[in-house]
Amino acid sequence: MRAFFRWWLVVMLAAVVLQIAFAGYGAFSTADKVSNGTVDEQSFEDSFGLHIGFGYLVILGGLLTFIFALAARPGRSRVLHALGIFVLLIVQLLLAWTGAAVPGVFGALHPLNAFLILGAVAALTVRMWKEPVETMAPEVAPATSPPAT
Ligand code: HEM
Repeated sequence: MRAFFRWWLVVMLAAVVLQIAFAGYGAFSTADKVSNGTVDEQSFEDSFGLHIGFGYLVILGGLLTFIFALAARPGRSRVLHALGIFVLLIVQLLLAWTGAAVPGVFGALHPLNAFLILGAVAALTVRMWKEPVETMAPEVAPATSPPAT
């Protein structure tokens, strides 16, 4: 399970990078539409559709990251680290929902929080790959032998 969890984190890291790239695509595609006419709700959705759709997958990935960490049992601090990533992703969703209403605060915090997420996923990936799986605490607690009579 730990070997799977390591590779899962690599996939999550790539997904977060891709999600940030989709935001860049959305911004520049919108800018291009502005210079060629006007932007309405439909054309904005067309530009940011990839980012919005993939964003929900990344958030689901954050929940799976926590569940996989629980199953892999890589140590308490790594499991808490995975939980922290999921919490940051929930905050990211709340910031996305409120960003347009309060762009100066929540809108500005949404991309900044993206870099916290990127750093947190990168750090957990490094933590999981740095230590050989064999030297981590056992995945399954050793069975306790019955007391000698
Ligand atoms: C880990 C990285 C990120 C995640 C998981 C994420 C997630 C999301 C999600 C789920 C939505 C859709 C919310 C809805 O239903 O309306 C969204 C919207 C959006 N995001 Fe991100 N995002 C990330 C990074 C960024 C970055 C770096 C930017 C850069 C500016 C950005 C800008 C936006 C914008 C402009 C919207 C559209 C909001 C709207 O439709 O009103 N996001 N994001």
